[in-house]
Amino acid sequence: MLLAIKNLSIHVSTHIEKKVIVDDVSFNVGEKRVVALVGGSGSGKTTIGLSILGLLSPELRVTKGAIFFKKRNLRSLPEGAMRILRGKEIGMVFQEPLNAFNPVFRIGNQIDEVLQYHLDLSSKQRKARVLELLDIVGMKEPKIMAKAYPHQLSGGMRQRAMIAQAIAGNPSLLIADEPTSNLDVTLQARIMDLFKELKDKINLSVLLITHDLGVVQHLADDVVVMKEGQVVESGMTESILTKPGHEYTKKLMEAIN
Ligand SMILES: Nc1ncnc2c1ncn2[C@@H]1O[C@H](COP(=O)(O)OP(=O)(O)OP(=O)(O)O)[C@@H](O)[C@H]1O
Ligand SMILES: [Mg+2]
Repeated sequence: MLLAIKNLSIHVSTHIEKKVIVDDVSFNVGEKRVVALVGGSGSGKTTIGLSILGLLSPELRVTKGAIFFKKRNLRSLPEGAMRILRGKEIGMVFQEPLNAFNPVFRIGNQIDEVLQYHLDLSSKQRKARVLELLDIVGMKEPKIMAKAYPHQLSGGMRQRAMIAQAIAGNPSLLIADEPTSNLDVTLQARIMDLFKELKDKINLSVLLITHDLGVVQHLADDVVVMKEGQVVESGMTESILTKPGHEYTKKLMEAIN
């Protein structure tokens, strides 16, 4: 198993409140699987994604459970090792693609930074690799795109560039938080196809965080349905969507039909 989340609980504690936001959650992500984490707003999806990467904000704390990635419990990994793991073994795409790129640097240079940090390549090799990555994510003119600044790209192209950056260090797992939510329907479909392709092209597993069961239906092999911090059901997408065992899943499905 590539990723195994076991009985994970996360609490928030501020001067205003103390509460459980992830409650005894368990699920797995296998090799070359796309696993969707679905559920309504505030159900704890993003929090789980951030906890895997060790990026929870200070008021949030993992209080119970384990996060096994390639059999190592990430909870006991020191920060230095986590820093290497992020980007190299686990890639990430956050919700806001415009914010994730620095507006004053060219796209190609920002992807190159990841290569410099994580891989031992000559500058010539890195240049070639940047173009290769832009090509992998379906950009037609990699050379021109590499030279562009973030604001010069369309939303769909920027999202592709983000994915190129996220896979630059050759991760085996990509965590993608609402990767298509800002895109129109046609672009959404293209990005979904891209994820499917990457699975085979670069042996990537994806933990796809979304509230959109339409996306799940098209893309995910497995699905984990969350409600208010708890898993209500999980299993293969086909069986969950054809025979939802829980009222909440049925409700989510009504929203797409
Ligand atoms: N830093 C924080 N301080 C206080 N509460 C927080 C913090 N981060 C998250 N929460 C709370 O934890 C719960 C889960 O939040 P989370 O962002 O994980 O939900 P989500 O499923 O990703 O929702 P969405 O679909 O809206 O992105 C929410 O009730 C949220 O308000
Ligand atoms: Mg979220």
